[in-house]
Amino acid sequence: MKVLVVGGGAREHALVWKLAAEPEVSRVICAPGNPGIARHADCRPVDAGDVDQLLTLAEDERIDLTVIGPELPLSLGLANRMVAAGRAVFGPTSEAAALETSKIFAKEFCARHGIPTARFQVCDTAEAALAIVASGDLGWPLVVKADGLAAGKGVVIAPDRASAEAAVRDAMVDHRVGEAGARLVLEECLQGEELSFFVLADGHCAMPLLSAQDHKRAFDHDEGPNTGGMGAFAPSPRVTPDLHQRLMRTIVEPVLDGMADEGRPFCGFLYVGLMLTADGPQVIEFNVRLGDPEAQVMLPMIDEPLLPLLAAAVTRQLRRTGLRIRREPHVGVVVAAGGYPGSYRTGDAIHGLPDAEALEGVLVFHAGTKMRGGRLVTAGGRVLTVVGRGENYRQAIAHAYAGVDRIRFDGMHVRRDIGQKALK
Ligand code: AMP
Ligand code: GLY
Repeated sequence: MKVLVVGGGAREHALVWKLAAEPEVSRVICAPGNPGIARHADCRPVDAGDVDQLLTLAEDERIDLTVIGPELPLSLGLANRMVAAGRAVFGPTSEAAALETSKIFAKEFCARHGIPTARFQVCDTAEAALAIVASGDLGWPLVVKADGLAAGKGVVIAPDRASAEAAVRDAMVDHRVGEAGARLVLEECLQGEELSFFVLADGHCAMPLLSAQDHKRAFDHDEGPNTGGMGAFAPSPRVTPDLHQRLMRTIVEPVLDGMADEGRPFCGFLYVGLMLTADGPQVIEFNVRLGDPEAQVMLPMIDEPLLPLLAAAVTRQLRRTGLRIRREPHVGVVVAAGGYPGSYRTGDAIHGLPDAEALEGVLVFHAGTKMRGGRLVTAGGRVLTVVGRGENYRQAIAHAYAGVDRIRFDGMHVRRDIGQKALK
């Protein structure tokens, strides 16, 4: 089969790396891809948000299955367009992607279907939001969330009334996140350990994949600004067999049943962001795709070909259980440009990659890289993900950092504590 993978980050590198090695995959094309992906696939310079050109590419290349990595093309209805053109696509329609693209939809959906989530209020105007802030009914800290996609900048955890009011005005008066902040969710702040649970869904049933934990803050010990993710490990040691059953029964199955009942059957990867609270697991958010960097640690753990699973999901023939998962934990460290997630420099030469890749138990996935004059240089905030595999978390961490320590570029920034949570 000829496969088109849409996207050009380290998540898509991991997807392409896995698919390209599988017996049923004859060829992989990636749009737009990156220099790491180019070692396993033909990269085409089509932007992941250019729905028309992506459809044309799939048609011209007679692609058998399109796999959509990031949320942008999903929110723009790439899956809808592919389905309408009679082309097989793995990824939800824009109606099903509302679980991620509208936090109001996601919260009200949870309320309609009895899915555990933080108490919340939806606000259509700044006056309404300020009145709820003033009432203090949701307690402190208060979480202020923009309804729409905001590239990780849509959530403020406000410790007190003044900062909550400032967050409301930022979104609704100063339009700091644009249209995404035209409506808000205010919600109670959940306390506990955060983890993610991933399943593959065919519109009706779900095959559990893996759990993972991300590290969203820029600096060690979870300090500094929020980022797209500075590292991840899988599986989460918190997900016992009992908790796994509970997550499937109280969250995943009601989500799939509810979405099907509401005429938005969900086909794709479902990412359930959770807080393990004293009252049990509660949904923080849904994403309608694999996480980045979670994909980079999860995909190498799947010990069977992915393509037959994706193809079965597209034709609603997914089996529910029996996925073969490697026993060894994986830890992924994001190698970022200094200054990320704020402004950062690009164009710095990257050294030492072949040495890192030659290490036993180490994989390197590219994100913000490009070739310039025959040399690999930085081209984004998150530059690489270095993944270590080990007999246990300690060894996986050691392998990941052995890889990181072979790599050098000016201003390189990594967190040094990725995976430590798994040792506690
Ligand atoms: P999101 O953009 O929905 O992924 O939220 C970003 C981050 O904010 C999450 O990963 C959590 O760490 C945090 N967060 C969001 N909602 C809550 C909540 N209700 N309670 C505590 N933390 C939250
Ligand atoms: N790592 C968080 C995300 O992909 O949304």
